[in-house]
Amino acid sequence: KLLIIDFGSQVTQLIARRLRELSVYCEIHPFNAVDDAFLDAFAPRAVILSGGPASVPDAGSPKPPQKVFELGVPVLGICYGQQVMMHMLGGEVVRTAGSAEFGRAFIEPTENRLELLKGWFHTGREQVWMSHGDHVSRLAAGFVPFATSSGAPYAVVADPDRRFFGMQFHPEVHHTPNGPGLFANFCALAGFTGDWTMGAYREQAVRAIRDQVGDGKVICALSGGVDSSVAAVLIHEAIGDQLTCVFVDHGLLRKNEAEEVVGMFRDHMNLPLIHADEADLFLNALEGVSDPEIKRKTIGGLFIDVFEKYAKEIGGADFLAQGTLYPDVIESVSFSGGPSVTIKSHHNVGGLPEKMGMKLVEPLRELFKDEVRALGRELGLPDRFIGRHPFPGPGLAIRCPGAITREKLDILREADAIYIDQIRKHGLYDDIWQAFVALLPVRTVGVMGDGRTYDYACALRAVGSVDGMTADYYPFTHDFLGETATRIINNVRGINRVTYDITSKPPGTIEWE
Ligand code: XMP
Repeated sequence: KLLIIDFGSQVTQLIARRLRELSVYCEIHPFNAVDDAFLDAFAPRAVILSGGPASVPDAGSPKPPQKVFELGVPVLGICYGQQVMMHMLGGEVVRTAGSAEFGRAFIEPTENRLELLKGWFHTGREQVWMSHGDHVSRLAAGFVPFATSSGAPYAVVADPDRRFFGMQFHPEVHHTPNGPGLFANFCALAGFTGDWTMGAYREQAVRAIRDQVGDGKVICALSGGVDSSVAAVLIHEAIGDQLTCVFVDHGLLRKNEAEEVVGMFRDHMNLPLIHADEADLFLNALEGVSDPEIKRKTIGGLFIDVFEKYAKEIGGADFLAQGTLYPDVIESVSFSGGPSVTIKSHHNVGGLPEKMGMKLVEPLRELFKDEVRALGRELGLPDRFIGRHPFPGPGLAIRCPGAITREKLDILREADAIYIDQIRKHGLYDDIWQAFVALLPVRTVGVMGDGRTYDYACALRAVGSVDGMTADYYPFTHDFLGETATRIINNVRGINRVTYDITSKPPGTIEWE
């Protein structure tokens, strides 16, 4: 496997992405977690040193262990990684006088040829993405330059005998169009064959779960979302009935959702599943509550109580399974974070493991979202299930601004089912990141047949997004919107007006609360 030592660049995660696309297994570890003992245990076949915000000439700037250069494996230093490598091997790095170099740049080859750059310079020069304020001013012994740019005489340097490579630019970003080829060359010369498939991952993960859990008991909060579902199925494959899943039905699910999830996992996948029907508990506690944060906190708190109750019922558990993904892991170890404002209190089972003395099982910790989907398919989950839009933990409560009533929830469920059916019928479901109906807390006047109506208005929401962090409204055709509005108003008692939400995120959020 390949080790990426992270010095805090904003784009380190993209290095891992590029390598995964080549079916090469890699892990990112922060520089301060990598010491000699770690290197011995990890036994990397190649090492990549990431970029980062620090400056090599500064006292106390972060460094990898010297041992990285004594392992006899290829090392690739990117930006700060190149500078720190040069510095540690006897070269010199200085602050760039005048302006730092940022953004698009072009590099040209020197008379030397480098295997790493096979496939580059067909048109004489290559576009790359630079972002640096320091540069290498003297090369370490054994290194020669292989490419230059106007701002960086040592744009690519290497000691081919030791297989040490350094570049001033970022090959991992989209704006270095031939970056993927460079990573492919690096992996090839390190001896990777690109055999890291989902099938291999599945076997490896099953073994790791067995090792970790032994004959302990595992409990899993199954939401019906892709991450918790794939985690549960994988763990079940590893340890069978030592796993118990709890599906908490808080009365805030979509139409037929409980039946679909329970049917799918209990009957189709044979998971040991408790269907916790706690709608009364949640809906009674929410009665009269209209503040979004109080709704979220009430639901989050009750969820933990309910989960704890069922955990006790099965005689306790040693482990809690969670569908934590790689981006969540990176976020929590990166040091770019600062104090940030709470926009919404997200609902999850955090805090529960400490309270109940459980350890965590997180078999998806190394995967990106699309890899989780691929693993789900590998495990036999149907495509229709794997492609499901995200659904928030607090459910319909946050799609019903104002006080929630059972009547409003029923109206919302009907409208939402029609809307999603329309989207599927028109073949748009997989193109949209998330779509739902919000029931508005206003009633407006309408006329139907010869009568006056005074019913609720609803808003359709549909967004395109990559990660839910930013989003734009989906450009439905007018025909689609008109047809959908008619179907909802004709079929849902209680709604007489349909609007379409055209707010992007930011400034809006995807959900209404
Ligand atoms: P917002 O509304 O913040 O939502 O733009 C971004 C994404 O997160 C989902 N979401 C949640 N998911 N628990 C979840 O598991 C929550 O409490 C929660 N709140 C929002 C939302 O559906 C969207 O996909």
